[in-house]
Parts: sequence; structure tokens; C-alpha cells
Amino acid sequence: MSDKKRKIYIFDTTLRDGEQSPGASLTPDEKLKIAKQLEKLNVDVIEAGFPASSPGEMQAVRMISEVVKKPVICGLSRMMPSDIDACRRALEPARRKRLHVFLATSQIHRQYKLKKGKKEILEMAAQNIRSAKKDFQQIEFSPEDASRTEPKFLTEAVRAAIDAGATSINIPDTVGYTVPQEFSDLIYFLIKKNPELGKSVILSVHCHNDLGLAVANSLAAVLAGANQVECTINGIGERAGNASLEEIAMALDTRKDFVDCYTDIVFKEIMKSSRLVSHLTGMVVQPNKAIVGRNAFSHESGIHQDGVLKKRQTYEIIDPKRIGLSGSQLILGKLSGRHAFNERVQKLGFRLNESELGQAFRRFKELADKKKYVFDEDIEAILEENLAMVPETWKLDHIRITSESGKPAHASIRLTFKGKSREAVSEGDGPVDAGYKAIEKIVNSGARVVHYGIQSVTGGKDALGEVVVKLIVAGREVTGRGTSTDIIEASIKAYLFALNKISSHILPEETQEHSPV
Ligand code: KIV
Ligand code: ZN
Repeated sequence: MSDKKRKIYIFDTTLRDGEQSPGASLTPDEKLKIAKQLEKLNVDVIEAGFPASSPGEMQAVRMISEVVKKPVICGLSRMMPSDIDACRRALEPARRKRLHVFLATSQIHRQYKLKKGKKEILEMAAQNIRSAKKDFQQIEFSPEDASRTEPKFLTEAVRAAIDAGATSINIPDTVGYTVPQEFSDLIYFLIKKNPELGKSVILSVHCHNDLGLAVANSLAAVLAGANQVECTINGIGERAGNASLEEIAMALDTRKDFVDCYTDIVFKEIMKSSRLVSHLTGMVVQPNKAIVGRNAFSHESGIHQDGVLKKRQTYEIIDPKRIGLSGSQLILGKLSGRHAFNERVQKLGFRLNESELGQAFRRFKELADKKKYVFDEDIEAILEENLAMVPETWKLDHIRITSESGKPAHASIRLTFKGKSREAVSEGDGPVDAGYKAIEKIVNSGARVVHYGIQSVTGGKDALGEVVVKLIVAGREVTGRGTSTDIIEASIKAYLFALNKISSHILPEETQEHSPV
């Protein structure tokens, strides 16, 4: 660990290596939108594209160079004059620009891909860097597949590039092959042989995630003395992707007690950046992705929820508000306790007394047994149902409804009234009609349905359905609402709810002496 706080430069390559993700292709306008967001995120360098690869890339890099002024704008180039010239043209309007030239150095790339010897490679790198110097103050050199290059030859390539005028040396783990200790040793070795690295010459790392080690390898390199990390939003990139920017930035910040380095990333822009990149590239973020995944700040276990409510830090190492989220999420489900439920009820603006809370909590638990997650809309529906505080004069005890296409539906309904059970069966024109007719056989209210509406109050296959019915009973219009994951049950509950609202007027036959109906 270094003894002085060091700035780590964030080189964002979402628009170059990130766009190389299979399936992620962006138009120049979309790239510009992302570049503007990266500027708000305050990255130090934006690698805007590979200008020689297509006219669209050339246009995108030029547009970004014209509009985005705070970060350095970088263009990628093979080690050849025509590519370097394409970068010169694309980056011409940039306030600060960087040329990024790469050339493979590993034995396998030299032999099979380039068919060139070591000497030829050193000369090619030195010559192109030297002649680019007149157009670029900042030149970055990447010995491609560095982590599989013989360390001695790698230092020779690095030395040749620095001597020719490179201002940054980037060490790519092109195929995501290295492991943290090994990569750290390589960085120490390179600094020992080229002491200006990490000081007057930026020492960068660029790690791929084929073994899921991109972030760990990048951090190991930072601890060994690298002072620039190349990374992408959401970790998108070629094959398994690149090191994720948000993970690097938050790891350095969260563990500054140990790492003693900092970045200039504006953390509160992280979520916005992640959503924008996901939306424009069509690359969905996996739910359990660190920092920006949907579940990264969600707690499902009742024990964890209770802990988070008592002190957030018991189960969270980052305050989600810092990265632009509204807060932690307690996922309410069957494992949740009364504490978490009551907390959510209060957040939704309801104030319940102990008995109301008990009643609502019981209903919540019943629902949680039927559906995996109980969302805020579900809870609102439960509370609206309960908080109307309509006495359950008529209580639904049992429903059995059968329907077959082309035949009338059959309903068998059992209700209780003051502890007594009453049951009726009926046929109907569909299951809801059959159910309502069976209820009427018991209650005999004479209600007429004047409106029936159904909607899903939550998403997904196990959504909660809400039914609203309007009845005319004894000349009065009354509305009932019922919710359930089963729409027939929701329909029956809505009907009974409406009847219960005017229950004092609808009494069973033997008590009709008190009834005005
Ligand atoms: O992975 C890689 O080696 C690259 C270089 C062009 C830096 O993307
Ligand atoms: Zn790469």
C-alpha cells in the first residue's frame, strides 16, 4: 500500500470496448448521449470509439469531440498510419485528446496473428508513436495480451514506447487470464524496470472478465502502483466484459481505509449512467450485479430487514443514496416480519392502531404465502380494503366455482353471519355471475350490479388483481373493492365488501324484523 493518497484516473471505454459486447451496437446519437452522461459522472478519459473502423464510428467520435469538453477524448488505433490519421481527424475538435495505439506482444499473437518477430514489433511501435507525436500530446500505448507476454519482452516494448513519446502505458489482460497476485507482481516488475510508470508516465490497466476477476485484478494492480483503470459502465465489453467502473469506483471509496486512493467519480450519477447504458445498448443488468443490480440493496430475510431498520450498516456497506438510489429496499415476502411491514405501511402514509396493524399483517402474510413478492401496490390494496373499516358482517368462508366452455358455470358459496354458516349453490353466465347469484341466494339483498371492473394492481404472473363493483341496493349506490391473486375470489370479495358497507340494512331472514329493506 502506498503511504500517500493517490488519484486513480478513470478511463471509461464503454463506448469502445463496451460497444464491442456482442449485441450492443450504438448509433452516433446514442453514443453522444452516453458521453454526456459520462461527463456528468466525471470520468477522466472517454474512449469514444475506433474511428478507422467505420464511417459511423468516425462520426460518433467527432460529434463527442465537438460537444463533450471536460474529459479527455480518446480514439483507438491500430499501429498503422491510416488508423492514426483517422483518429487525428475524428479528435480534431476535442479540447483535450488522446491517441490510443495498440500492438500485440505475446508470443501466440506474434506467431499466429501478426506473423512478426520481436524486433519488428518494437520498431513498428516506436516508429508510429514517434510520428504521431506531432499531432498528439497524449499518446497511450497498449501491448495487447500483455499478461501473456514474456515479462522481459514486455518491459522492452514498454521502454521503446516511452522512449518514442508515449505518455501512458496500458497493460491489458486481453483475454482475462491473469489472477490478482500474478498481475500485481507484473505491475511491480514493470515499475521496477521503468520507474517513471505511475509517475510522469501514466500506468494503466485494462482487465477482461473471462474468469470473473476483472475488478479484482484491476484493484490488485492499483495496490501495486497503477494509477489509471480502464473500465466500462455495467462491466459490458468484449466476451465476458471489462472491469466494471461502478465496482472499481465504489470499492476504492468504500475501502479507502485500506487502499488510500481516490477517484473523481461523482457517485450520485452512477445509477443514472448504468440505466442509460443498459437502456441504449439493450444489455440488461443482472439482478445480483454488484452496486447497480436490482438486488444490490434489497433485503429479503426478516432478520436482515430487522437489522437494516435498526441500523442500515448492519447489512449494507454502501448507502444506496450515494449512488443515486432513493434508499435500501426491503423486499416484503413471507419471510418478512411485523417490523418491516409496519415500516412500509408508515412509508406509504398509513397510520394504523395495533389492532388494524394486526389485521393488515395477517392479510399480508396470507398474500405472501400465495405470491413471492408483495409490492407497495399490494400493500396499498390490502390497507384500502382493511382501512375502509367496514365490519365484516358477511364473511366469505368458502368458494368453489367450476366452469366449462359452452356450459353454465356453477358456484357453491359459504358465508358466515355472526358465526353462523350459510351456503348456497347457483348456476350463472360465467363464474362471476354464478358466484354473485349464489351470494344473493343467501343474502337476498336484491342488489343489481351496475359496474364491474378489473385491473391488475401489480406486475407479473402472480399479480394481485383488483375488482371494483358498483351495486344498487335498496335505491342506494354502493361500491365494493376486492383484491386477490385469484380474480374470481377478488370479484366475490368486492361484492361482499359492497354489501357489508350497507350491512345494517341487509340482514338474514330470521332477523329481518330490524331491517328496513
Ligand atoms: O483488451 C484489449 O487488449 C484491448 C486493447 C485494445 C487495449 O481492448
Ligand atoms: Zn479490451
